[in-house]
Amino acid sequence: MSLQLSEISPDEVKRFAAEFESASLTDVLGWIWNKFGTRAAVGTSFQGAGLVMIDHAIKAGFRFPIFTLDTNLLFPETYELKSRLEKHWGIEIESLQPTQTVDEQAAEYGPALWKKAPDVCCTLRKVVPLQKKLSTLAVWITGLRRQQSDTRERTQIVELYHFDVLRDLYILKANPMANWSREAVWDYIKANGIPYNALHDRGYRSIGCWPCTKVTNGGENERAGRWTGFDKSECGIHTFLGESI
Ligand code: ADX
Ligand code: SF4
Repeated sequence: MSLQLSEISPDEVKRFAAEFESASLTDVLGWIWNKFGTRAAVGTSFQGAGLVMIDHAIKAGFRFPIFTLDTNLLFPETYELKSRLEKHWGIEIESLQPTQTVDEQAAEYGPALWKKAPDVCCTLRKVVPLQKKLSTLAVWITGLRRQQSDTRERTQIVELYHFDVLRDLYILKANPMANWSREAVWDYIKANGIPYNALHDRGYRSIGCWPCTKVTNGGENERAGRWTGFDKSECGIHTFLGESI
């Protein structure tokens, strides 16, 4: 069931966001679990922060549903990682599919829409399926980190997200990894033997769809390899849907 604003007011969200700055990851996840249970779900692209968060949740017994947006354009290594993670944790991860296959999209919009109009392609393959999913949930738990890019440096640990302006729907967006550094994430993954994307060992720092992801050199921001050549740094799931308050 979607979030009703009577369940948590904007002022309360602001208060919790400030309080959670000094709370542990397990404490933040525990607060979400106790208040919302399985009305809260984790969305992951199987990158570092998401993996750390899921591992903490599973070890603490918080059984959040977990989903991924499968654009049908992910790297083979990413699909393979999904299966390895399901075995490692003994869980199932739901794959959300776009309405059209890649071929159907090409028939309607022309081939390789990502080369002409990546915003349209991301809307069709990520934003719309996500919006459908969020309308069934009260809390969306993400792996966003402030350090990832300039557009993410104001991310709060909890925020109200007006994700469907037309239907006036809100969700509590929880970003419990917001204040984690890349180093802390990778130290945890290595120390706990969590399977990770083989592409990370081949120079990829941020991994999305294969047509829009490149290897970056160490000096750039870690999302610099996404949509190289376009004035675009976000796929839209964190920006197009509406305002965070
Ligand atoms: S994106 O904007 O490029 O797609 P990024 O890969 O940095 O985002 O991931 C940031 C957070 O967005 C992830 O931790 C996850 O919560 C969410 N996210 C991104 N891609 C997906 C995906 N394919 N499926 C589900 N959630 C995703
Ligand atoms: Fe399309 Fe690229 Fe967006 Fe993937 S990241 S949905 S291929 S534009």
